Amino acid sequence: MNIKTEAFGILPDSSQVWLFTLTNANGIRMKVTNYGGIITSLEVPDRNGQMADIVLGYDRLEGYLHATPYFGAIIGRYGNRIAKGKFVIDGQEYTLAQNDGESTLHGGTRGFDKVVWDASELRDPASVGISFHYLSRDGDEGFPGNLDVNVDFVLTNDDELVIRYRATTDKVTPVNLTHHSYFNLKGAGNGDILDHLMQICAPAYTVVDETLIPTGELRDVAGTPMDFNLPTPIGERITQVGSDPKGYDHNYVLAVPGLDQLAARVSEPLTGRVMEVYTDQPGMQFYSGNFLDGSITGKQGRNYEQYSGFCLETQHFPDSPNQSSFPSTLLLPREVYESTTVYRFFAE
Ligand code: BGC
Repeated sequence: MNIKTEAFGILPDSSQVWLFTLTNANGIRMKVTNYGGIITSLEVPDRNGQMADIVLGYDRLEGYLHATPYFGAIIGRYGNRIAKGKFVIDGQEYTLAQNDGESTLHGGTRGFDKVVWDASELRDPASVGISFHYLSRDGDEGFPGNLDVNVDFVLTNDDELVIRYRATTDKVTPVNLTHHSYFNLKGAGNGDILDHLMQICAPAYTVVDETLIPTGELRDVAGTPMDFNLPTPIGERITQVGSDPKGYDHNYVLAVPGLDQLAARVSEPLTGRVMEVYTDQPGMQFYSGNFLDGSITGKQGRNYEQYSGFCLETQHFPDSPNQSSFPSTLLLPREVYESTTVYRFFAE
């Protein structure tokens, strides 16, 4: 087990960016940077012990500084969309940047994926980790309150990546933190994810309009192309879902949130790699990389075509600040926002 720290680059404002390499007792290796809390690489074995890096991203810091679809990043303050970039708390309206048509996506123009986090090492007999800290000031991206945020990435010797979120505020504010890795269990850049078998333990999903804002309806998945309660190839019904582009980009309403309950299980038949997801969050966005179009050149000079990676973003439901029937995302002063998601890896 070890943690190695190296310089990853320097930002235009001269802040230093670090790259941490965490290796667990079984040789699973994860690289994470304090720019955006981005996981830049995650190497796990296949059924023959062959390692591959299973997350999409760039070789260098520069890649992440240009327009990037949130590869591997911490997402905040509010993961997913807020309609019209507006919400009201106690009669006061707050206005955010509209960076996705008329909506606010993933925290605004400079969300938590684009800031430099303080970092410290976490060492334990059974794991290695990095703890990130960021103070998002009152008014940051239009959100109220000073939000003090900690995100811990812990790689355990049970081959789990545990992500722990914690936040406190001094004014009532919405919070919805998540992680945005694009996974490809064949290895990043090795074709598409359409043959991966996806299982999502969710009876329903939040129906969205053409701008991907929820209508408020929770719809049963049974008998539709949205149903992944039994393991099903991602590509089997993908052309029946979404409009332009086609594909999954939906928030699932998890059957039983909880760290001892399976939320999702993805397996890749050729390599035998399996990833399981456990979370205490009520929802999970399954995004099948619909907007990737080959224009991004990622690690090792490989272009990322449509469906070359999938995201499973554990979270509260989209647009909750404007949807009174959804579980609340408001954090109050003196409360502590705490959430954990576990990604577990093995081969079969
Ligand atoms: C969203 C997609 C979006 C992507 C960012 C996902 O979380 O659901 O609609 O395009 O992030 O590239």
